Amino acid sequence: MAVLDSVLKAYQSPTRMVHAIGAISALGQEAAALNVKRPLIVTDQGIVKAGLLEEVLKPLRAAGLDPVTYDQVRANPGIALVDAGARYYQSEGCDSLVAIGGGSSIDTAKGIGVVAVHGGSIGQYEWGKDPIHSRIPPLIAVPTTAGTGSEVTLWAVITDPDRKVKFNVGGTPNIAAWVALIDPQLSVNLPAGVTAGTGMDALTHAVECYTMAYHQPFTDAVALHAMEYCARWLRVAYSQGHNLEARYHMSMAAMLAGLAYGTDSAGAAHAMSQSAGGVHDAPHGALTGRLLAPVMEYNYSGEPERFARIAQALNLDTANKTIWKAAELSVEYVYQLTEDLDIPSLNELGFSEEEIPLLAQKAEADSQTIGNPRDVDARNYERIYARAFEAGRHRKVARQLAHAGS
Ligand SMILES: [Fe+2]
Repeated sequence: MAVLDSVLKAYQSPTRMVHAIGAISALGQEAAALNVKRPLIVTDQGIVKAGLLEEVLKPLRAAGLDPVTYDQVRANPGIALVDAGARYYQSEGCDSLVAIGGGSSIDTAKGIGVVAVHGGSIGQYEWGKDPIHSRIPPLIAVPTTAGTGSEVTLWAVITDPDRKVKFNVGGTPNIAAWVALIDPQLSVNLPAGVTAGTGMDALTHAVECYTMAYHQPFTDAVALHAMEYCARWLRVAYSQGHNLEARYHMSMAAMLAGLAYGTDSAGAAHAMSQSAGGVHDAPHGALTGRLLAPVMEYNYSGEPERFARIAQALNLDTANKTIWKAAELSVEYVYQLTEDLDIPSLNELGFSEEEIPLLAQKAEADSQTIGNPRDVDARNYERIYARAFEAGRHRKVARQLAHAGS
């Protein structure tokens, strides 16, 4: 049983959530309602090439705004990228932000907002260092993936290439987007591999937030619903990229899971994937997805009732099963899901077994270790990493067999 505690808990979201298939057409009116004139559009080259930047520029200009574009975002955005964006924001006389893309674009925009208001460099605002005392300029976040949930969270994740770590900025409503404008239509052309990785990231947010020490009834509710959607729709979205029903439900799953971890941290899987993501430039979703099942396998003994409840949310048959058996089923399910979605192995993501001690140390040092449902230290992280590498090897064998049979 989780702590029946007298520790004060709170939930706060300052973000207006707007969503519909085709919601992008409302961008102009949403921006106009914020009474802004010159937004900096923060995005990446993939969005530009996919023609999605135009989808943003059109309604903004039609509403009489004068947007400027910063399209230099890359995966795992670093300090220099954010600081350069903030300088550009100032030099162009911007008064607001529109982020379109995955978590990297939205996190970069949040970081630009923090530096634009507070000055200095984004590195100063790592959680626990300089406070973010004022709200960032009006930011409309338009996600094009269904995973990060950054459009509704109180965090940005930034990479420090010198320390080879990703650090968190935020933990305060001051960094949150003013509007999350969610249009599942924007995700229909995502490659299947990105759909799989980002969807696993959403599922991980839900599972970790439901089982960690900081959970509360509100976050429990949204996390469980996010899990239900992932269980029903993630495989479909992966298999049928243009299935709008699947895309809609995965967009909602990402939003709900983002709300679940909006105010607090996640747990061991994110402690591992965020710290490892600073070592090698691997996509966050695939890396987190590859780690989720081994982390659940390690964690379920800490909160067996909660993992049994997860099995129900995943629509598994738990009738006449003990709590322990049901909890185990949830772990088995996620191992299978990882393979069904063809999530790359850790080796394929650029890691090697020799790095396990280093990766384990970094995970232990990550602040998200606190609150994990089972006590965990570097030695335990080594065991979890070993299991994650092992699961990836099975995948290699399975692929060779499939190839041999074709
Ligand atoms: Fe994540």
